[in-house]
Amino acid sequence: MNILIKNIKELLQVREPGTDKIAGKEMATLPKLESAWLLIEGNNITDFGTMDSCPEVNAASTIDATGKTVLPAWCDSHTHIVYAGNREQEFVDRINGLTYEEIAARGGGILNSAKKLNETSEEDLYLQSCQRLEEVMRLGSGAVEIKSGYGLTVEGELKMLRVIKRLKEEYPVAIKATFLGAHAFPKEFKENHKGYVDIIINEMLPVIAKEQLANYIDAFCETGYFSVEETEQIIEAGKKYGLQAKIHVNQFTAIGGIEACVKHGALSVDHLEIVTDEDIEVLKNSNTIPVALPSCSFFISIPYTPARKMLDNGLPLALATDFNPGTTPSGNMNLVVATACIKMKMTPEEAINAATLNGAYAMGISKTHGSITKGKRANVIITKPLTSYYQLPYAFGSNLIDSVIIEGEIIK
Ligand code: NIG
Ligand code: FE
Repeated sequence: MNILIKNIKELLQVREPGTDKIAGKEMATLPKLESAWLLIEGNNITDFGTMDSCPEVNAASTIDATGKTVLPAWCDSHTHIVYAGNREQEFVDRINGLTYEEIAARGGGILNSAKKLNETSEEDLYLQSCQRLEEVMRLGSGAVEIKSGYGLTVEGELKMLRVIKRLKEEYPVAIKATFLGAHAFPKEFKENHKGYVDIIINEMLPVIAKEQLANYIDAFCETGYFSVEETEQIIEAGKKYGLQAKIHVNQFTAIGGIEACVKHGALSVDHLEIVTDEDIEVLKNSNTIPVALPSCSFFISIPYTPARKMLDNGLPLALATDFNPGTTPSGNMNLVVATACIKMKMTPEEAINAATLNGAYAMGISKTHGSITKGKRANVIITKPLTSYYQLPYAFGSNLIDSVIIEGEIIK
């Protein structure tokens, strides 16, 4: 279907082909057109310009966007949308004084979700995940990375990845699947880490690769979870099957994981609530993009990624939700952008760059997603009338989205 959007007050993130990510000072600039039009043909953006050059086209649908802002749909490069049930009790336990680490140490946390997941049928897991995916699409996400990691058994991990594959087939949103068998050590491997790492490498990975169930590989590199050495082993094993790494690292402690990820060519390092000066040095001149997850910091009350320091040192930064049952039961990228501005002192321009083009880079799709560029996928958010796009983070908590178009399909 062809769609012509006319009278757009502000068309944001307009870029020529070829910019794959934005770093440092450049993130302060968000290129835009005022009083603009945008033409969508089939799945793609085919043209755009200012209203003085608006073409006479025979579009199946013409949208009048007077007073409204149009921007690329969010690219959420880090989620765990496929999970079973929830962890509301742990939420209340934290209110009553327990920490995330204390809850995990007594068998809650990731192991709690793994137990639920292994007791849930693939069909039920799929239906629960559909609801979450549909919700985030309505909230403006047009591309979503989804991880496994709540199975922690061969069957459980495969079940999750098959659900992700089915979501890819059923929904227009771009989905990348990440294998996160190395999310936590199952109880029976608490004293036998090598035994579980062997299962990941020798039993899970070969089947996942054969069935083409994953695009990336991940590990939770953290004190009490996977050591730097174990993480390196997993990254290298993934490479043998063509899976590049996207790693959970520096959420609670800095143990040298970032340096290892950069050395092994990871696409992204995610979380980074704790970042040392050495980590920043290592990330400079690398192609590894840091990814911050501010709604995780908000929900479990841990530090925010020091975005200002990272950007001032010339690094790129992407923003993602981390949607998961334990640390971030929310897939709302609008809230992530607002929180980045409010708590991390990112400007609206920096936050929108981080949540669109840099998010696309962090999931390997910036050639096709993340900006208003001729030939890229027609994934856009049309807002309600706004005084300016500053209102998006300013009016945090309000839903300012009028409609979302994903792959040329009007979602709402
Ligand atoms: O990204 N930190 C590791 N993994 C998830 C949370 C896992 C959970 O508590 O269920 C995260 O925050
Ligand atoms: Fe995560």
